Amino acid sequence: MKAGLNSVVKKALQGYVGFANLPNQVHRKSVKKGFHFTVMIVGESGLGKSTLVNTLFGTTLYPGKGDVEPTDETPKTVEIQSLSAEIEENGVKLRLTVVDTPGFGDFVNNEESWKPILDNIEERFDAYLEQENRVNRRKMVDNRVHACIYFIAPTGHSLKPLDVEFMRRLHTKVNLIPVIAKSDTLTEDEIKQFKQRILDDIKSHNIQIYQAPQYEYDDPETIAENRDIINKIPFAIVGSDREVETSDGKKVRGRKYPWGVIEVDNPDHCDFVKLRQMLIRTHMEELKEYTSDVLYENYRSEKLETMGVQQDPTVFKEVNPLAKMEEERQLHEVKLQKMENEMKAVFQQKVAEKESKLKQSEEELYTRHKEMKDALERQRMELEEKKRRLESGRPITPEKAKKKGFPFNK
Ligand code: GTP
Repeated sequence: MKAGLNSVVKKALQGYVGFANLPNQVHRKSVKKGFHFTVMIVGESGLGKSTLVNTLFGTTLYPGKGDVEPTDETPKTVEIQSLSAEIEENGVKLRLTVVDTPGFGDFVNNEESWKPILDNIEERFDAYLEQENRVNRRKMVDNRVHACIYFIAPTGHSLKPLDVEFMRRLHTKVNLIPVIAKSDTLTEDEIKQFKQRILDDIKSHNIQIYQAPQYEYDDPETIAENRDIINKIPFAIVGSDREVETSDGKKVRGRKYPWGVIEVDNPDHCDFVKLRQMLIRTHMEELKEYTSDVLYENYRSEKLETMGVQQDPTVFKEVNPLAKMEEERQLHEVKLQKMENEMKAVFQQKVAEKESKLKQSEEELYTRHKEMKDALERQRMELEEKKRRLESGRPITPEKAKKKGFPFNK
């Protein structure tokens, strides 16, 4: 599967895709602006990757590829190629970027096949991180990989060492969605057993594939739909971008065999519809959110941490605007705290001063009041003594007045 590099093409849909009917997952803004979704396709050559992408997005993103005879042209290393297409359904636009990885698993020694793919995912994270650090962050372009469809060959046995190694290396960097390629080559029972073996392998190697989240607040229908999708992972898929005729004369997308037709869009025939539902209708936003909030965030903090550890702190400050901003914010907070403490201290001092002044004037008032009261008392006593003297006819002498404790007035 090969594609032109970074070119955006406009494509007309040949059938139902489903992103125009996004239910509760999407808000009006996204509908207005259109969606941007980046999906990576990984798997050995000839497993039907191009055909699936064409089938999934209802358009020939890979013209001349897919349901045509494979060629012998094999790249020397794993090449990363990306192709963007703008597709429109019921007036809703989806800018779809498919990141293709031709050459994966095609060599005698495939030990490092995962490396260029991991590098590419990390480069995309780096590009986003770089935009975040810019002064003007209004026009951020999100080219991070939101989902990685990993094609497992329909061997019916178990995962190959190449599959395990790839998933082990990538599961913390991207939403892994394993699919069983060309599942029309296996019987229903074989698919069931193969799925179980794959899940057991994934578990025993501690690989974290994408888990569609369950929300308690969702309505029962959505919960049931989500559970149904999860239960189908790894999706057993059949791809075909051609129409074939069924025995009753219906034209369907599918693959024709002497014993009948396998319909791509029939959930009883394969899990293609479930995969499409998850990717495009029910979980597109979730996949983007998980990429941004968990996978990218982890990468970002690890990266910043490594930069901080490896570099001289002064250099680090210069090359890492995020850390610098954080440091400035902390300094500013310390400064604010200091100012607040100083203001508090001044206020407390002023209150204490006022309190002591009030206390002083209260004491002064009390003393004055006491003095006046005493003086009045003395006057009263003097007058009473005078009155008594006058009544008894004996005037008061200065000695007597002194003895009684009031001033002598003639
Ligand atoms: P590369 O370009 O080599 O990486 O291959 P690819 O993985 O993109 O595979 P491609 O889609 O080109 O398909 C390879 C062959 O497999 C074609 O002849 C397709 O018709 C056939 N094919 C694709 N999907 C299916 C499928 O689901 N079942 C069967 N039986 N054949 C399929």
